[in-house]
Amino acid sequence: MNLSPVGIRRGYAGLIEGDMAPLSPRDVGGVIEYGGTFLHTARCPAFLTPEGRKLALETIQREGLEALVVIGGEGSLQGARWLAQQGVPVVGLPASIDNDIKGTDMAIGVDTALNTVVWALNRIRDTALAHERVFLVEVMGRNSGYIALMGGLAGGAEIVLVPEVEVSLEQVAEEVSAGYRKGKHHSIVVVAEGVTARLGPTHEIAHFIRERTGLEVRVTVLGHLQRGGSPTAYDRILGSRLGAQAAEDLAAGRFGHMIALQEGELLPVPLTEVGRKELAIDLELYRLAHSLGK
Ligand code: F6P
Repeated sequence: MNLSPVGIRRGYAGLIEGDMAPLSPRDVGGVIEYGGTFLHTARCPAFLTPEGRKLALETIQREGLEALVVIGGEGSLQGARWLAQQGVPVVGLPASIDNDIKGTDMAIGVDTALNTVVWALNRIRDTALAHERVFLVEVMGRNSGYIALMGGLAGGAEIVLVPEVEVSLEQVAEEVSAGYRKGKHHSIVVVAEGVTARLGPTHEIAHFIRERTGLEVRVTVLGHLQRGGSPTAYDRILGSRLGAQAAEDLAAGRFGHMIALQEGELLPVPLTEVGRKELAIDLELYRLAHSLGK
């Protein structure tokens, strides 16, 4: 394959500023075990402005970039769609721990984040059991409950609160109490961060449960712990497959799509169809998590 890759630093910010360097196969030797990105990344409000976008297009022309691979979440892929509409050959790769990108079953990073949640829940359960406490564990996901649900299911949480399913504080407190009445000695409630827009901050949810049940309640916010660490085997394989497919597509002159994973297969999804999933969780699995948690 006769391609000369260039690494753009800090995503769209680097594209705007022309911050890039040639990237040879030797430059990525040994990186498979690392989290984060050695190219760095950035939230880039400037790319949402006409001036920023103009500068990005100028960089592409000036540097003679013949095609772009955009790796990121829904926002980054929206940017990719815009570039494609301007005639730039673009291939998108889904990467977001929220797993809310329409068209793909999985995105790079999801599995590693999930395993971190499970790792954390295992440790938190030790204190929860020892002190017979209720633990509220807040996880990331923006408006998606995917990490909360799948992490809660795999981590054996008693209750999972996701933005996709409306429950009241009273119901949560009652479910916690019911568990103790049935002989449980602890309760782990996984709270998706997107729930707090409706139910209030996690520490207020904790306060409500404490007042209602008289139980000892603690809060742990996992935060950016979920966004780092050595990738799982699943993520390494997914990233390798997606990257290789992107190179093949570029070499073959196929552009304007995101490479998606659907039922184990890599498929092109037009960038025009890529957006945020209307429902990022499987409601059957939500019911399963709750019945197993009782
Ligand atoms: O979209 C990925 C994500 O990790 C969300 O789950 C989270 O809400 C957000 O990014 C955190 O963003 P930042 O790192 O900019 O605080």
